[in-house]
Amino acid sequence: MYKKVYFDTLSSTNTYLKHNYKNYSDNTVLICKEQTGGHGRLGRSWVSSTDNISLSLLLKPFIKINQIARLSLMTSAVIHEVINKYTDNVLIKWPNDILVNKKKVSGILLESIYSDKIEAIIIGVGINVNTTVFPDEIASKATSLKLETDKDYDLESIIDELITTFDRYYQKYLLDDLEFLNICRKYSSVINKMIRINDEEVFVLDILDNGSLLVKNEVGLVKEISYGEITLKDEYKR
Ligand code: BTN
Repeated sequence: MYKKVYFDTLSSTNTYLKHNYKNYSDNTVLICKEQTGGHGRLGRSWVSSTDNISLSLLLKPFIKINQIARLSLMTSAVIHEVINKYTDNVLIKWPNDILVNKKKVSGILLESIYSDKIEAIIIGVGINVNTTVFPDEIASKATSLKLETDKDYDLESIIDELITTFDRYYQKYLLDDLEFLNICRKYSSVINKMIRINDEEVFVLDILDNGSLLVKNEVGLVKEISYGEITLKDEYKR
C-alpha cells in the first residue's frame, strides 16, 4: 500500500525526504504542488510548477547497493509506460530522461541514504503535464503532455496511474525479474547510436543487466559506462 502525503510548496521533495525520511514509512509518496528548488541529475535544475507533477517515492527495501542502478532504470520503464498511454514516440534516454518526439517530458532523480546498509531510497519524479511555456534556456529541449497532445490532464489520475504501474514493476524487481530492462532496451533512444558521454564519442551497443551502458569507443575498445550525461550525435553535430 502506498501512502500519499501532500505539500503545497517545498524547496524539493527529494531534499525534504532526505532530511525527514525517518518520519515516513516505506512506500510513502510525497507530492508537492510547487517546488522552489527542484533539481535533477548532475546538478541541473528542474523547473516545477502547479502544472507539473513533482513527487518523490520513499522506499526502504532490503536490497544491495549494486541493485540501485537497476531500480533507477526500472523507474524509467515505469514512466515510459505511463506517458505512452497518452502520446506516441516516447523513448528512454539512458538512464533517466523520458523523451517525446526527442524532447524531455520527464526526469528522475534517485538518491539513496546508506551507512552499512541502505536506509532509504528516494526516487524523485518530475513530469511536465499541462505546462505550455518553458524558460528560454530549455524551451527547445522540453515538452509536456499538453504541448504534445493539445489536451489538459488531471494530475491526480496520472499520479495514481504512476503509483499502480510503479508497484507492478517493483514487485517483480524485488523478485529479481529483469523484464523491465527489455523495455529500456526496446524504447532506448541511444542503442545503436553514436553519442558523446564523459567527453568521449562512443557507439552504444546495449544496456547490460547491471544497468550500465555497453559502448565501443573510437579505437574499437568495448567497455561499460555506469554514469554520465549523454548527448546524441545529431544534437552535437549539425
Ligand atoms: C533530471 O532530469 O535530471 C531529474 C529531474 C527530477 C525532478 C524531480 S521533481 C521531484 C523531485 N524533486 C526534485 O528536486 N527533483 C525531483
